[in-house]
Amino acid sequence: MAKLDILEFPDPRLRLTAQAVETFDSDLKQLADDMLETMYAAPGIGLAATQVNVQKRLLVLDISETHDAPLVLVNPELLETRGTEVCQEGCLSFPGVFADVQRKDWIRVKAQDVTGKTFEMETDGLLAVCIQHEMDHLVGKVFVDYLSPLKRTLLLRKLEKQRRKAG
Ligand code: NI
Repeated sequence: MAKLDILEFPDPRLRLTAQAVETFDSDLKQLADDMLETMYAAPGIGLAATQVNVQKRLLVLDISETHDAPLVLVNPELLETRGTEVCQEGCLSFPGVFADVQRKDWIRVKAQDVTGKTFEMETDGLLAVCIQHEMDHLVGKVFVDYLSPLKRTLLLRKLEKQRRKAG
């Protein structure tokens, strides 16, 4: 396994749209494994292929505290949603900053696993928020896009400050 470099905002490659995965081979499995390793090391709870400069509809998640519930979604599709909730979100492409974003509270998702097998899942709360956040990455969207211009400016200023601090 290998740790991958995570693109950070405002890298223009974060705006690229991912393509559907059509080949389910050992390279795809390796990519999913590497993305999980990268996400755990960051540490984070979700990572989209777009964030590691791979334009494929693939994302990995694990909201467990023990890092033993990895979830890989290939070609994810939202089938149904219900309600809304506001959650504080962060993103590995925006290290050190957080903002409230409104998302759907309950979702039903269809996806494939790394072998190409199709499955459906229903989820709510943090995992639902996380899936929606990562799915946005696959179409070049990031969480600060939901903020008002003023809030976005303040957040990006804070991001710059964090970066200078980190050297
Ligand atoms: Ni993100």
